Amino acid sequence: MRFLPQAVSASLAIFTMGRANAGDPPQSQTFAEYCAVGGANLTDQHWLGLYCRNHMVEIFGYNWTWIDLDFCVGNNGGQLATMDNGNYSTSCNNCNATHDFEKKTLFLSCACPNDAQDYIMSSLDLNTTLYEIDGAAGCFNHMGNETWRGP
Ligand SMILES: *[C@@H]1O[C@H](CO)[C@@H](O)[C@H](O)[C@H]1NC(C)=O
Ligand SMILES: *[C@@H]1O[C@H](CO)[C@@H](O)[C@H](O)[C@H]1NC(C)=O
Ligand SMILES: *[C@@H]1O[C@H](CO)[C@@H](O)[C@H](O)[C@H]1NC(C)=O
Ligand SMILES: *[C@@H]1O[C@H](CO)[C@@H](O)[C@H](O)[C@H]1NC(C)=O
Ligand SMILES: *[C@@H]1O[C@H](CO)[C@@H](O)[C@H](O)[C@H]1NC(C)=O
Ligand SMILES: *[C@@H]1O[C@H](CO)[C@@H](O)[C@H](O)[C@H]1NC(C)=O
Repeated sequence: MRFLPQAVSASLAIFTMGRANAGDPPQSQTFAEYCAVGGANLTDQHWLGLYCRNHMVEIFGYNWTWIDLDFCVGNNGGQLATMDNGNYSTSCNNCNATHDFEKKTLFLSCACPNDAQDYIMSSLDLNTTLYEIDGAAGCFNHMGNETWRGP
């Protein structure tokens, strides 16, 4: 199990108590393995939506989650970087989320201004930034929301 920020651990504990007899408690899982990175939707440069695996595999097993990547990624001198409340989309543009078939993961790519205001293209492996809990994606202490079906 990966390190969980305090706030997520606390809400997780409450959630777990509520379904004490419903099977294994939800654990933090790796993003690339538990989310369907091939079907990701990046809307308005920073809303990432995709299906992630929940703990009710007997019903359907996947929920659609939306996470605001501005909570997770920032512009560090022209380079996308994992950053709590980084707000990259306020300065970067031409962003997309691209499935890398070979590496089996999802990359966020944008053009971001450096200190000289030159726009530089960079990419960030979202598996290094996001985690997955019971059908929702999150980063730091921000959890994405969850519905049964996507758009
Ligand atoms: C992505 O999500 C947006 C917002 O729900 C939706 O309008 C759009 O059709 C979706 N794009 C694709 C390719 O599914
Ligand atoms: C990102 O935006 C939030 C909300 O407006 C703000 O609290 C935070 O300080 C911003 N972060 C950065 C790195 O500018
Ligand atoms: C995703 O990250 C986890 C934990 O850091 C790692 O074990 C796993 O191999 C990574 N998966 C991919 C496809 O990069
Ligand atoms: C994704 O965005 C990057 C940076 O803006 C760009 O270089 C690349 O061509 C884009 N990829 C796709 C598939 O649109
Ligand atoms: C989840 O967030 C998206 C993006 O803001 C929003 O469109 C959607 O209504 C939210 N869904 C729920 C169930 O809160
Ligand atoms: C998540 O998906 C399951 C089916 O796999 C469904 O029963 C559950 O209601 C969904 N959760 C939400 C919040 O939509």
